[in-house]
Amino acid sequence: MIVPAKPRVFSGIQPSGELHIGNWLGAVRTWAAQVEEQREDLLFCIVDAHAITVEYEPSDLRQRIDVMARDLVACGLDPDKCTLFVQSDVREHTELAWYLANVTPLGDLHRMTQFKEKSAGKEHVLVGLYTYPVLMAADILLYKATVVPVGDDQLQHLELARETVRRYNFRFGELFPEPQPRISKGSRIMGLDGQGKMSKSKGNTIALFEPRESFWTKLRGAFTDPQRLRRSDPGRPEVCNIYTMHKSVSSSDEVELTYEECTTARRGCIDCKKILMDNFDRELVPLRTRRAELKAHPERVRQALADGAAKARRMATETMREVREVMGLGAQPAGG
Ligand code: TYM
Repeated sequence: MIVPAKPRVFSGIQPSGELHIGNWLGAVRTWAAQVEEQREDLLFCIVDAHAITVEYEPSDLRQRIDVMARDLVACGLDPDKCTLFVQSDVREHTELAWYLANVTPLGDLHRMTQFKEKSAGKEHVLVGLYTYPVLMAADILLYKATVVPVGDDQLQHLELARETVRRYNFRFGELFPEPQPRISKGSRIMGLDGQGKMSKSKGNTIALFEPRESFWTKLRGAFTDPQRLRRSDPGRPEVCNIYTMHKSVSSSDEVELTYEECTTARRGCIDCKKILMDNFDRELVPLRTRRAELKAHPERVRQALADGAAKARRMATETMREVREVMGLGAQPAGG
C-alpha cells in the first residue's frame, strides 16, 4: 500500500451558498486551525456533485460554489497552505464511486439516517441521494486520507467509508488506509428553534457572515433550556445550545464561569448570549475584513480553485492507476 508520508486530512462541504454557524463551529473553524498549524497535508473540497442529489437550479449552483469558495478562504483556508478545490473538477471522484459501489452492500445504504430523513414523505427520490455515501467514501479514499474532520451528523457516513475500506482491502489487497473521524467541540450545533440540528434546509440558522444586527437578533431569540422559565430558575448548561457555542468560542475560564452562573441562576440567558455575541464578534472581525477584500477580487479565488484542482487531480490519477490495476480494469498496457 502506498500511503501518504504525513497525516492526510480530507473534508468536504456542500455549496449551500452561505456558511452557517453550525458549519463553522462543527467543521470549518477546525479546518482553519489545521491550516494554521501546518502539521498535516490538507485537502478541502466543495462537493458540488453531492449538491445535485436534491432539487437544485443549475444557474444557481456555480454562483453558490463561488460564494462558498470565497467564504472558506475568508475563514482561513488559505489556498497557499492547503488544497482547496471543487469536486466535479476532479472526475476521478465519480469514477471511484462507481467502483466502490461494487463492494457496498445495499443493506448498508438502507441504514443511513440522513437518507431516511431527506427522503421521508417524498415521492420523487433520486438514486443519487441513496448512493450519496458511496460518493463520499470515494472523496476520502481517492486521496488516501487518514483523518476526516466533520460534525457529528457525518459520522455514520464516515463509518460506512471505513467499512468500505475494510471490504475493498479484503477483496483487492491493502490499498487504502482506514480514515479516522476528528470531531470538534461544536460538533452538534442545534437549530435556533431547538428542533434538531442547525441546517439550512430547516431554516433555523444564523449565517456566519450575517450583518451583526441580524446576527444578534437571531441569537437573542435562540432557544435555550426549555425548563428555565423564569430568570430565577437555575439553568441546565448541558442541554443548552448557547452553552455548546460558548464551549467553542469562549475561553475555558469563561466557560467555567458560564456553567457556574447559569446553574446558580446568577446569570440570565440574555446576558449569557451577550457575552457569546462579543466572543463571536472578536473572532469574526478579521474574517469579515478578509471576506470584503476577496469580494473585490473574485479572480483570486477562482485561480486558487483551478490550482487546487490541478494538484488534487495529480493525486487522484495516481490512486486510480492503482485501483484499476488491482481490480483488473482496463486494457493491458500496449507492449505489456
Ligand atoms: P455539509 O455540507 O452538510 O456540512 C459541512 C460540515 O459542517 C458540519 N455541520 C455541522 N456541525 C455542527 N453542527 C451543525 N448543525 C452542523 N451542520 C453541518 C458537517 O458535519 C460537515 O462536517 N456529506 C457532507 C460533505 C462531504 C464530506 C465528504 C465530508 C462530502 N464528501 C467527505 C467529509 C468527507 C455534507 O453534506 O456536509
